[in-house]
Amino acid sequence: MAETTPAAPPTPVVTFDSQVTNPSGSQAPGDQYIFFAANAKPGDKWGEDPAMNLVKLTDFSVSAPLANSQLMPPEANNPAGVKVIAPGGAPVVATGLLGCNRSGDDKKYADMATFRITNPAVTSFSIWVLDSTTKVRANVNEGLAIRVNGCAPVAPCATVKTDSANEFSKFTITGASISDVFTVAVLSSDGNGAHRTLAGLTFSVIPDPSMAGKKFPVIEQQGWNDLNKNAKKDVYEDPYQPVEKRVENLLKQMTLEEKLGQLNQLVTGDRKNDQALFPLMRRGEVSSYIWGRGVPADRNQFQRIAVQESRLGIPILFGMDIIHGATTLFPIALGLSCSFDPELLERAQTVAARETRAEGVEWVFAPMCDLARDPRWGRVAETCGEDPYLSSLCNAAQVRGFQGTNPAAPDRVAACLKHYVGYSAVTGGRDYNDSEITEWTLRNAHLPSFDAGVKAGALTIMSSFNAIDGIPAAANHHAMTEILRDEWKFKGFVVSDWLAVEQLVNWGYAKDKADAARLAINAGNDMDMKSEAYVPNLAAEIKAGRVSLATVDEAVRRVLRVKFQVGLFERPYVDESAYKAAQKKPEDIALARECVTKSTVLLKNTGILPLSKELKKIALIGPVGDDHREILGCWTGRTSWSKPTLASALKEALPTDATLTVVKGCAINTVPTTKTLQDGKIVPDESVPPTDADLKIDEAVAAAKDADVVIMAVGETKGFTGENASRAFLTLTGNQQALFDAVAATGKPVVTIVFSGRPLALPEVWEKSAAVFYAWQPGGEAGSGLADLLLGNVAPSARLSMSVPRHVGQVPIYYNYYNTGRPRSGQYRDMKDMDAKFWFGYGLTYTTFEYSPVKITPAANGKSAEATVTITNTGKREGIEVPQLYIRQLVCHEGARPKQELRGFKRVKLQPGEKADLSFPLTGDVLGYIDRKGNPRVDAGDYEIWIAPSAHAGTPAAFNLTPRD
Ligand code: NOJ
Repeated sequence: MAETTPAAPPTPVVTFDSQVTNPSGSQAPGDQYIFFAANAKPGDKWGEDPAMNLVKLTDFSVSAPLANSQLMPPEANNPAGVKVIAPGGAPVVATGLLGCNRSGDDKKYADMATFRITNPAVTSFSIWVLDSTTKVRANVNEGLAIRVNGCAPVAPCATVKTDSANEFSKFTITGASISDVFTVAVLSSDGNGAHRTLAGLTFSVIPDPSMAGKKFPVIEQQGWNDLNKNAKKDVYEDPYQPVEKRVENLLKQMTLEEKLGQLNQLVTGDRKNDQALFPLMRRGEVSSYIWGRGVPADRNQFQRIAVQESRLGIPILFGMDIIHGATTLFPIALGLSCSFDPELLERAQTVAARETRAEGVEWVFAPMCDLARDPRWGRVAETCGEDPYLSSLCNAAQVRGFQGTNPAAPDRVAACLKHYVGYSAVTGGRDYNDSEITEWTLRNAHLPSFDAGVKAGALTIMSSFNAIDGIPAAANHHAMTEILRDEWKFKGFVVSDWLAVEQLVNWGYAKDKADAARLAINAGNDMDMKSEAYVPNLAAEIKAGRVSLATVDEAVRRVLRVKFQVGLFERPYVDESAYKAAQKKPEDIALARECVTKSTVLLKNTGILPLSKELKKIALIGPVGDDHREILGCWTGRTSWSKPTLASALKEALPTDATLTVVKGCAINTVPTTKTLQDGKIVPDESVPPTDADLKIDEAVAAAKDADVVIMAVGETKGFTGENASRAFLTLTGNQQALFDAVAATGKPVVTIVFSGRPLALPEVWEKSAAVFYAWQPGGEAGSGLADLLLGNVAPSARLSMSVPRHVGQVPIYYNYYNTGRPRSGQYRDMKDMDAKFWFGYGLTYTTFEYSPVKITPAANGKSAEATVTITNTGKREGIEVPQLYIRQLVCHEGARPKQELRGFKRVKLQPGEKADLSFPLTGDVLGYIDRKGNPRVDAGDYEIWIAPSAHAGTPAAFNLTPRD
């Protein structure tokens, strides 16, 4: 057990000692050896092979798989493969050849092996690295290097050139700690596609004898962790104690500085600068990281510092934006919500949770509960659409998917409802703007989805960037305290959005950072994301009496509670060897494909779909046809590209006698565009070419003329969607409209697939296409899912979760508008139609359905009723219909209610000719609303009830709700 607590270790120093070509003369008896094998896995204790006479290594372990390396077949001039040197003896021959291939990368490091000390007593050691390169390709290794914590080697840890085979290089490392990660790397020498290889690496590791016999704290005990290293099981360390008791016990042991540290969230960026964070962690000043790296070993390295080297060992909570998938990428939330199948979203986020937690991230910044009413706002892509009811169900389902019934499980994460609140109503659709929202609209449109997320058990909430009623969200007491805590009894914590606390100054709401910190914490914003406003300022604010210690204690309690709830105190580290196996399983890919088929909305079909097997010549035209980037959406999780593309999936799926001609036609975008860096700086986005070098409309027209049918894959670039990506025009980007017009003018039937993060207003596309699929940004399985739909292996069943306007001038436009004093008046002088082109809820299938009139059957006491309808499949194929229940309260003295409100839906599968009788209850929660004080209310009186295939379709039935007793 603990006798001493080690001082914070310094940054390790690596020196190059010597280089010899006679291996047997360079080691001493008793040296320990690591044998790096190409198939090594994290957790392997290398050098344990008795056949090789190696000393068992207990003080070092592999901390990451071999990156960029592979096992090469033994070659004629290198029969030996990897050589292992026994202590003091001659080389022992092993099989295999460890190599790396960094084609085309000039002077880049290829990491060969990564390891870490497992015994805290080892702080300095020597390492001999044998480069037994046999020069399969001459002069390709520029040399060996030791990297520390992922940094490029710096002097005096200079790269050591190895020119001939079987050279040993000796490095000495001092000042090491168990939190450091060491990597042996090889530097490539040219960029000509050279093949670099290293025939083997043998390490001889010599622990520092001066440290022998010293005892250091070992925090891992049987079934608990001695986090404060006091050799006894404190209540907060005891997993069998109730969470609330553990929180209080820990809180009592904390200094004010440590408390403020728990309210501080930082961001990791480049590996080198991240080392500056280590001292802060040792002092307990970092509660959480936004964790951009997908490397579990790195994450454990950070955690080790917090747990082993800080006084109380409070683990760090790692958070990340996993929005529509981690490694397996699903359609964007706006697409998924079009499935009208909340369980589908739950299943998708269950996969995302497993993939994320396996990486060591236990907190995701999702789901997004904002209500999408204005398609100019780039973040509608992340929402579940324009309707509070559908959005509530979808977001509650996502919370269940992320958290399951136990967020501490190794395949679950804590969810974060964002952005609280009113962020989507930004004026002009411009991101970060203010939002003008009345209490009535806030309660009945913007809050229900957050309320549903809280009821589903979401552990955290993120406050938003916008202001409401002049008060920025990060300092909005009404939203964060009066509603969230007092009314809803939310017990988790609120984190600000990125720099939002400091930006209270820009709003003109706070005088300086200290004032901002005071306003935010007093309003109920517990954790400060990235501003670093709390740690340096709140102690003085408390001293001055402007913030109470009780307020800080309460915020800390909320943060600690979540850390306990996700099981961090029991399992602070992630199993590095389990990461790969948890990613992208075959069933995940199948689910992603199912999600594509259930999210893609069929907007028009003159009968061309599904494509007939008689169509032999197909032209696929447009910049998204063979693209693997644009299909992914604005948050790409841990995946940066994807296969199959639509082209490759179609090639595979089409009958063998069909031909597919793929023509890009133009670039997806031509406007020189910008991107926002992590620090908020806006720079040119060089991945988007400023001119359309791909413009080949003639080639596209020729391909169309030669085809039986054209599939056009067009849309908007994904860089125009997501955060800080508002648009003034809802058009196709770049030259795509010209491409579409030219292809459509050939007269060939055109099936258009629109890829987009928002509804676009595309009158020519709606009019001139023979069929239109709205695919949103479908994620990694876009190709296979869309091929399923096009060829009719699966029939479409999705419905719009956001209305599609005719023109940008109509927005914000949503189906649940008010009847107003002058219904159907207030026309545009210069546009004849005031309706959306396609209203919320709209979507076709490959069959047709007929609805009977709605029948209302009141309950005997008249206080509730049932609405029923009979639906018949009148077409020739099996299909899924999504009947939707809409209500309207005709008179409401509390405030006018919308002309229609969705309050129920079902997905029903019917065979041709089959009928189904469906019923929806008309109970209080179905008919009711929320008053300005937050009370749910149901009024007696007259209602209209629709059961219809979309908003503003069908004929309502009248219903009178009798007064309550
Ligand atoms: C800013 C975005 O608004 C928010 O959605 C995201 O979760 C944070 N940055 C963290 O990346």
